[in-house]
Amino acid sequence: MLNIIICGAPGCGKGTQSDLMVEKYELKHLSTGDLLRNEIALKSDLGLEAESYISKGNLVPDKMIFDILSKAIAEQTKNSKGIILDGFPRNVAQAEALETLMASLNKEITLLIDLNVDNEELIDRLIKRGETSGRSDDNLETIKKRLAIYEQKTAPVSDFYKQKNKYAAINGMGTIDEIFGRISSVIDSKR
Ligand code: AP5
Ligand code: MG
Repeated sequence: MLNIIICGAPGCGKGTQSDLMVEKYELKHLSTGDLLRNEIALKSDLGLEAESYISKGNLVPDKMIFDILSKAIAEQTKNSKGIILDGFPRNVAQAEALETLMASLNKEITLLIDLNVDNEELIDRLIKRGETSGRSDDNLETIKKRLAIYEQKTAPVSDFYKQKNKYAAINGMGTIDEIFGRISSVIDSKR
């Protein structure tokens, strides 16, 4: 089974590369950002609360994430070749909770893939996407806040998996295919 975490700063290509991994390795994609945006589109209570954090570039509370994700992880690891976690865990507390959840399911994380992209390129990609995405967080002010929160809260998750020898840094600059080639070689070496 391949249970992969794809991690990296806003705009590094987590969603883009997840789509390619889903196709090649037949994995289930779980994106906390997509799940939250779905709730926002439905105008549910959870969505309305989440939007107040997301539009300011802040993380939503851990409990909200766990409420929507734990059931999905349990379901998607059942009878599947594995999962891709995109946008989760986002801080060390979430990483610890994920480890406990996986152990209770008798599963484990195979690898964390950390996509490294220069800040200038991240900003360019997100500003460009903001022209059409309709995402309330794709504007320069919020992008800068997201990048700062990433450094402060999410970057330490890498150390958590480095200590478990389950960490791979990938150069996330270049064409989508070039980057996917790098990701595939790392995954293939783990199978
Ligand atoms: P989330 O949805 O996870 O957003 P993010 O981390 O900010 O990342 P993005 O989705 O913006 O970028 P991506 O890395 O997926 O890149 P993409 O492939 O789209 O989270 C949003 C918010 O939800 C958070 O700020 C937080 O509030 C909340 N949240 C989510 N999870 C949470 C959690 N666990 N805990 C608490 N809060 C949580 O690519 C970006 C753009 O670049 C696209 O337009 C793409 O086409 C383009 N692109 C991709 N690759 C390339 C390339 N190689 N060259 C040129 N362009 C490229
Ligand atoms: Mg994404």
